[in-house]
Amino acid sequence: MWAGGVGDEAGGMNTSATYTDAHPSQTPPPNPAQGPTPGQGANSAPRLAIQAIGLRKTYGKGDAQVRPLDDLSLDIEAERFTAIMGPSGSGKSTLLNMLAGLDIPDSGEVFIGRTAISRLNDRKLTALRRDRIGFVFQSFNLVPAMSAEENILLPSQLSGQKTDRRIFDRMVDLLGLRERLGHRPHELSGGQQQRVAVARALVAQPDVLVADEPTGNLDSNSGEEVLNILRASVDELGQTVVMVTHDPRAAARADRVVLLADGRLAGELAQPDPESVAAALMNVTAGSAASGAAPAGQSAGGSAGPGSAAATVPTDGGAR
Ligand SMILES: Nc1ncnc2c1ncn2[C@@H]1O[C@H](COP(=O)(O)OP(=O)(O)OP(=O)(O)O)[C@@H](O)[C@H]1O
Ligand SMILES: [Mg+2]
Repeated sequence: MWAGGVGDEAGGMNTSATYTDAHPSQTPPPNPAQGPTPGQGANSAPRLAIQAIGLRKTYGKGDAQVRPLDDLSLDIEAERFTAIMGPSGSGKSTLLNMLAGLDIPDSGEVFIGRTAISRLNDRKLTALRRDRIGFVFQSFNLVPAMSAEENILLPSQLSGQKTDRRIFDRMVDLLGLRERLGHRPHELSGGQQQRVAVARALVAQPDVLVADEPTGNLDSNSGEEVLNILRASVDELGQTVVMVTHDPRAAARADRVVLLADGRLAGELAQPDPESVAAALMNVTAGSAASGAAPAGQSAGGSAGPGSAAATVPTDGGAR
């Protein structure tokens, strides 16, 4: 299935106005940073775009059981660029999918803004993904038969919304796609295809853009271009971006790097640079390997928990 900020309910009713603050019990825990007006914090503390609280997820049964998320809590600040790193299998994609409402935890809660996703029925969850989340994947996920412009406009067409032409033009220019709008994906380089995918996600002005290894299929120059755009979307458009990556240089473009190991937070870095990220990742990977994959129901040896030996930079109040 292709994806680009739209759900699987093509042409469905736009319910964006109906689920926010739908029920008092959906209200997230008090966030002193949260001002009365979205986007306008009453004080200088950052507003939170997403709050994940006590997420647990288990797959399989018995000996085959794995627990990609093990009581994981994380705050994602609005209008900031957050990178998620960790060894393969540490739960990064599982976490990202939950932050984006693509998957539901066995227990715990995700608040996207003030919306508790566990309280949403399938239709409202689909609408939330379509209207409030933009997706970028490693594999671009463009529609081959459509031009770049048609790909960019497709989500809004499917949801019956009219694209603001000024925003479309701004995105196309920001992403350097003006000359390529009439081309189909196979006529574009990998970097250009991924820029079309980013434009498709951004043009809907999502609350949060999530990207799972967006540079994973690109050479370093093309990857750099995509990272420049993600960075610019935060700096110039106030976009909130959450990106999973294996590349310390990519993660260093973020404002904050969160490290996972064995489904738990293993540390974080503020103001990351490639060297500090690489060192922290090596530490976390070594700690995770030493503890072995933690079977569900057993401790991961404590090696991956915040404040543990593997936590090169202990988690702070931003990630509980
Ligand atoms: N649908 C599923 N069914 C069974 N196991 C799953 C499923 N999704 C993920 N897992 C398992 O959960 C664990 C975490 O997977 P996840 O994809 O989140 O890891 P990751 O950190 O993104 O890894 P990578 O860096 O390789 O992409 C892995 O052991 C994986 O095999
Ligand atoms: Mg993954």
